[in-house]
Amino acid sequence: MCGIVAYLGSREAYPILIKGLHRLEYRGYDSAGVAVINEAGDLNIYKAVGKVANLEQVAAGHDCSGTIGIAHTRWATHGVPNEANAHPHLSQSGELTMVHNGIIENASPLRNQLKEKGFTFRSDTDTEVLLQLIEYTQKKHGVDLVCAVRSSLKKVIGAYAIAVIDRKDPGTLVAARKGSPLAVGLGEANCEFFLASDASPLAGYTNKVVYINDEEVVELRRGEEPAITNLNADKVDVRAKEIDIDVNMLDKGGFPHFMLKEIFDQPAVLRDCMRGRLLPSHHRIILSAVTEHREELIHARRFIMVSCGTSWHAALIGKQLIEQFCRIPVEVAYASEFRYSDPVVGPGDVVFALSQSGETADTLSAIQLASERGAMVFGIVNAVGSSIARASDTGTYIHVGPEIGVASTKAFTGQTTVLTMLALAIGWEKGTVSESLYLEALEALEQIPDQIARILEKDDEIKALAQEYVDKRHFLYLGRGMNYPVALEGALKLKEISYIHAEGYPAAEMKHGPIALVDEDMPVVFLATHHNLYEKIISNMQEVVSRKGKVLAIVSEGDTVVKGIAQHVIEVPHTPNYLCPLVSVIPLQLLAYHIAVAKGLNVDQPRNLAKSVTVE
Ligand code: M6R
Repeated sequence: MCGIVAYLGSREAYPILIKGLHRLEYRGYDSAGVAVINEAGDLNIYKAVGKVANLEQVAAGHDCSGTIGIAHTRWATHGVPNEANAHPHLSQSGELTMVHNGIIENASPLRNQLKEKGFTFRSDTDTEVLLQLIEYTQKKHGVDLVCAVRSSLKKVIGAYAIAVIDRKDPGTLVAARKGSPLAVGLGEANCEFFLASDASPLAGYTNKVVYINDEEVVELRRGEEPAITNLNADKVDVRAKEIDIDVNMLDKGGFPHFMLKEIFDQPAVLRDCMRGRLLPSHHRIILSAVTEHREELIHARRFIMVSCGTSWHAALIGKQLIEQFCRIPVEVAYASEFRYSDPVVGPGDVVFALSQSGETADTLSAIQLASERGAMVFGIVNAVGSSIARASDTGTYIHVGPEIGVASTKAFTGQTTVLTMLALAIGWEKGTVSESLYLEALEALEQIPDQIARILEKDDEIKALAQEYVDKRHFLYLGRGMNYPVALEGALKLKEISYIHAEGYPAAEMKHGPIALVDEDMPVVFLATHHNLYEKIISNMQEVVSRKGKVLAIVSEGDTVVKGIAQHVIEVPHTPNYLCPLVSVIPLQLLAYHIAVAKGLNVDQPRNLAKSVTVE
């Protein structure tokens, strides 16, 4: 997830680009850059690691003049966040410059082909590969920029939103998209153009927007109306829409809070997380870390997972997945306890570090200790180039884009998705998962984003339900098996943003103590999806109801039994048992969110918490 902005018109481009980058900063902020062509035809590019404010400092006092320019704020995917990898990138000749949001999956073979043709590379990015391909095509066939872009895009696999300009032709801007969003704002007489990853940078300039569709290329020429074509150069109608943008909600992509936006991001980002890795049509899961470290993984003595908070809950799910599919024993430890426990860990062990931010101090120390003692460290991290990613021997990024709300949502489902792919990939290599189960799992996992989208349609229903629970002081969350960590996660979500005391338990543990708390004032949230242990969960539910507890149950679609017992039910689609956390957690995220909003609390920045816990 990156943000791109571009401008072509009669105004100074730089202030428009910088303002646009600030509005897109929620999409990523590990580096930023801008390129502007001045009146003399000079191409000036400025880049900085970190936020857009750093870029402004770098560019201050330099020539930023010009009426055409492109800009970018980055969430690193290929290559660590540094200046060389920051966009805009420059072609070999220094004539073309480009920004890109997305992932070019076949960048590696294309890079090799271009190297054979004499191209050299300044960065580790997939973007530079695509740009060099465009330049190669332009020069080899003597075609104009838009033709070269179309022809190059036919050769790439992956997702992109790009904007490219040519120093020799400062009156033309070419952009295209597939899988990554792109909007063109039409200014004066439809001949002034604002281009961006979402409509927010357009606010205040124009409300006339053309949303570019997949595999469309838009050519914007100074003083002319925009021209859109598909990759075969067939003309496409320009479909301008009038939009109404509330400037206050800009950074949140139109949602009132980052947390709600991130909950709703889940179908799209989980597709990103699986893209190029889960290949049901090829009957394969490909994770490069598993390919490269196959022997250490399949012959591991045991796995240990270290993490904190929500990431620790994902690890509890990972333990069940790996033990089921790989038959390798897995221990799950709080990173903060592990580091001071003089752990028995060493060669032959693989220590998995799960972390959204990649900067959690306890987790970082835990893996440093494991590494010193000879274990292999495998990072499952969201933030590319973060400390934990760098301190790991290998790993798999979850690629769910920046998570800004303090309460983790999409990172949890991203971690769970990666853990599922990992367990299946290792199990397949080890021969401990049958072919039929492997294929069933691939197909079922591919359905998950659509199934989550269906649950999100229940948002209004869950919002209405939340009103009934706003005044409660305590909650219990109960689940078994794969749904036990979901109960913990539901309780954590509620307590951290609504300040309501909530406890998660394995449902059968209730009778060993917590049942003493149950009365008519105690809501009990049951994870009662139709999986193994379902009948046992029903018995636990009866025990609560007979003590006047109020039951809210998450059930599988079409369940009639629980409807006769619980006060409220929320249905989720059917999945195999091993995938149920990915759907059953969604209503709990929405429930916590709506209760906190109804209480008038600061959902995105709850008291006493921080997004990245870099202290012990
Ligand atoms: O960045 P990490 O995943 O390492 O963070 C771990 C915890 O601090 C984090 O999950 C925390 O519990 C969240 N606020 C939960 O919503």
